[in-house]
Amino acid sequence: MSVSIKGSVALVTGANRGIGKAIVESFLAHGASKVYLVVRNQESTQALHRLYGDKVVTLQADVTDAESISKLALLAADVNIVVNNAGVLAPADPLSEHIEASLRKELEVNVFGLVRVANTFADILQINGGAFVQINSVVSIKNFTPFSSYSASKAAAYAITQGLRDKFAKQGVSVLSVHPGPIDTDMGVEANFDEMDSVSIVSEGIVSALAAGDFHLFPGAMAKDFEAAYRSYSEAFITPV
Ligand SMILES: NC(=O)c1ccc[n+]([C@@H]2O[C@H](COP(=O)([O-])OP(=O)(O)OC[C@H]3O[C@@H](n4cnc5c(N)ncnc54)[C@H](OP(=O)(O)O)[C@@H]3O)[C@@H](O)[C@H]2O)c1
Repeated sequence: MSVSIKGSVALVTGANRGIGKAIVESFLAHGASKVYLVVRNQESTQALHRLYGDKVVTLQADVTDAESISKLALLAADVNIVVNNAGVLAPADPLSEHIEASLRKELEVNVFGLVRVANTFADILQINGGAFVQINSVVSIKNFTPFSSYSASKAAAYAITQGLRDKFAKQGVSVLSVHPGPIDTDMGVEANFDEMDSVSIVSEGIVSALAAGDFHLFPGAMAKDFEAAYRSYSEAFITPV
């Protein structure tokens, strides 16, 4: 199902920096009428307010705080595109002494956060139509050893995203699962990636993928290699026609 950004009302978690901020900028450049910026620190969106005025509305919430997320439904009932972008990386290989702590932290944000955001907006999206976008990763389909717990959390998020696709399809709501490779953000720098693609590869890719009605998006050079190798499995088992 094709979803146009033009005239849409969007909501982006983790909208203050990195990929989330780029999504806000791309959506507004493509004609979104309003974007809700869901952030932990309300001060962190001042630059976006200076640039975009009343086209952006900051809402304070933390995806680990179920109450703050459920309150968003009252504040953003006109939304028709929800992007769950907020995420954390706590590097840990499977035998490191902090693997449990890393995995708990990443599951809490990357998986339970997704579940909270999706459930909060399920009824609103059913009424308004539109799309739910989840920022997953290439690590959702291949574990990278130094980031084993992060990969596990993104694999779990991808599994939930597939379930959301089935549930939302019955309600006329599109679901888009985004799988970037290394992207030049604070997280990318923290991970020490050698070669990183720019955030706009992801944000502009989302605009195009929503218009095309796609379920998967693999933005960036590394992600394209994953997409090519994964396509036949995906077509057979994930998105059979
Ligand atoms: N960069 C990459 O190479 C890459 C590749 C594939 C997928 N991804 C995914 O893309 C998404 C964005 O990542 P990024 O690279 O832009 O990372 P980033 O620069 O580290 O930004 C992370 C964003 O998530 C927010 N966030 C973290 N914990 C949160 C919480 N508990 N509640 C609400 N917001 C929270 C942060 O808010 P604060 O400013 O308050 O911390 C920030 O806005 C993540 O889901 C990440 O896993 C990134």
